Amino acid sequence: HPSLRVRRAALLPPPGERGDPPGDPPGDPLPVQSRPFASYGSALHIALPQPPRAGQLLTLHIDYEAGEGPGVCWLAPEQTAGKQKPYMYTQGQAVLNRSFFPCFDTPSVKCTYSAVVKVPEGFTAVMSATSWEKEKDNTFVFKMSQPIPSYLIALAVGDIVSADVGPRSRVWAEPCLIEAAKKEYDGVIEEFLAVGEKLFGPYVWGRYDILFMPPSFPFGGMENPCLTFLTPCVLAGDRSLADVIIHEISHSWFGNLVTNATWGEFWLNEGFTMYAQRRISTEVYGLPYTCLEAATGRALLRQHMDNTGEDHPLNKLRVVIEPDGRMISEGFSLFVGVNPEDTYNETPYEKGFCFVSYLAHLVGDQSKFDGFLQAYVNRFKFQSITADDALGFFLEYFPELKEKGVDTIPGFEFDRWLNTPGWPPYLPDLSPGEQLMKPAEELAELWAADGLNVEAIEAVDITSWRTYQLVYFLDQVLQKSPLPEGNVERLSKTYPKISKAQNAELRLRWCQIILKNNLEAEYSKVKDFLHSQGKQKYTLPLYRAMWAGPEAARALAMETFSATAPQLHVNVQNYVKKILGLE
Ligand code: BES
Ligand code: ZN
Repeated sequence: HPSLRVRRAALLPPPGERGDPPGDPPGDPLPVQSRPFASYGSALHIALPQPPRAGQLLTLHIDYEAGEGPGVCWLAPEQTAGKQKPYMYTQGQAVLNRSFFPCFDTPSVKCTYSAVVKVPEGFTAVMSATSWEKEKDNTFVFKMSQPIPSYLIALAVGDIVSADVGPRSRVWAEPCLIEAAKKEYDGVIEEFLAVGEKLFGPYVWGRYDILFMPPSFPFGGMENPCLTFLTPCVLAGDRSLADVIIHEISHSWFGNLVTNATWGEFWLNEGFTMYAQRRISTEVYGLPYTCLEAATGRALLRQHMDNTGEDHPLNKLRVVIEPDGRMISEGFSLFVGVNPEDTYNETPYEKGFCFVSYLAHLVGDQSKFDGFLQAYVNRFKFQSITADDALGFFLEYFPELKEKGVDTIPGFEFDRWLNTPGWPPYLPDLSPGEQLMKPAEELAELWAADGLNVEAIEAVDITSWRTYQLVYFLDQVLQKSPLPEGNVERLSKTYPKISKAQNAELRLRWCQIILKNNLEAEYSKVKDFLHSQGKQKYTLPLYRAMWAGPEAARALAMETFSATAPQLHVNVQNYVKKILGLE
């Protein structure tokens, strides 16, 4: 990556011939060159003294400096929860770790790693590693003993402390958040892990710890092995957003053990993980609740496809990644195809979930399909695979299905699932969630009517509704918005539990409703929410909604962005700029 400064590269003598201790600097320096590759990175070329023999092991020593790249986030004290000390963290997925260290930054290559990290007094370093030790001079030594792809190497340094929440789990957070973090997840993580192991096989990573990130962390969660990075937004006080943790835990098998070989098949990571997440959720919380949660996921897919158009090239499971090799003149290279960073959208998640659910539907028996998932993990663990590998194994595992030609059923061809954009040809049956969804749908109907039926509305008691039931209700209201004049104001007053909610998922929906209904009186809530956190999936929909609104909404967007831009992740900043036409 252009932000990485390679100072020196050298070839180390073969292990047997190395002097002890190695010279300083070690080895003979080699010519180093950076060459154009893609818009998101360059290729590091190191010239070897002679061509290597096939199978020959080479050890390179690369001395480099990193710092200002997009994968390394430096936060000022004001950008942390405690606002006292600076913070730094790395976010590798999809292709940002090339700005953190020189590497084969593709998910098709796996390796172990170790790191020695020296930080100033008063700071603690944590990494996605199977073991760590603190040595003198505030130096931390980390080792990851299992092979992982480059994007899963992660480091965070800050004023952070930890608390145990289970036999192999602790939470890490800034001191001001640690009590809340411990309270929220004490005792529950182990249950999720145990159910995961029962369904998918052994948990191979040793510990499962969680680091609560500063509020500007752009994702809900990031499955860095041994140490999930999590947005503090999931600290809702009532465990209602635990699905994010279950999701990241599910990556311990799907993604971190069996990895997509290219970002063009990101759905292999996320679609299988969504399926695994909902399997664990079904075991822990039951089928009705899990179907309700899946219905909110389906609503997100609907919104995404409406936004982008069903035929958008990103709305297929297999995406063409740049560079495809087409160069354009004048020394600059431009490429067609998709930047791997841009594949983060609902399609690989929710259409991927539908495809995996479709495979389960073809099998027709949950325990047989669970058996397949476990065999799949066992077959491909520590490897990187393509969709063809996964589907080939599926047909091999169920020869009777292969015989029947289930991969070529008209309208449901595996090839169509992978290569045709658009709405999934098969949707799993979510009707077991109806007992939770129906009341929410009916209430949304009532609120969308001209001339409110106040009596009917007051007869519905939402005080006992779970968060996802409220989320589902709000999604329905949003879909029906703008509501008739006055209804949203009334709704706001009737349900302070919603309009004054602190829960991030509820706040997102409420802000979307405010904007869709142009409720200027509550614009400040949109602003406050965008100031309080920087998650991409919350930030972009709100800027899109503001930009689609009247002048006042657009002004709100501009004002909010100019105030918050410095605290947003660079990727999120750039996406917002695009929405606001600033680029
Ligand atoms: N690995 C992803 C986050 C990610 C995706 C980072 C693409 C960078 C590029 C993580 O596992 C994830 O999917 N998080 C979701 C959680 C949700 C589906 C419960 C998120 O952040 O929204
Ligand atoms: Zn994920």
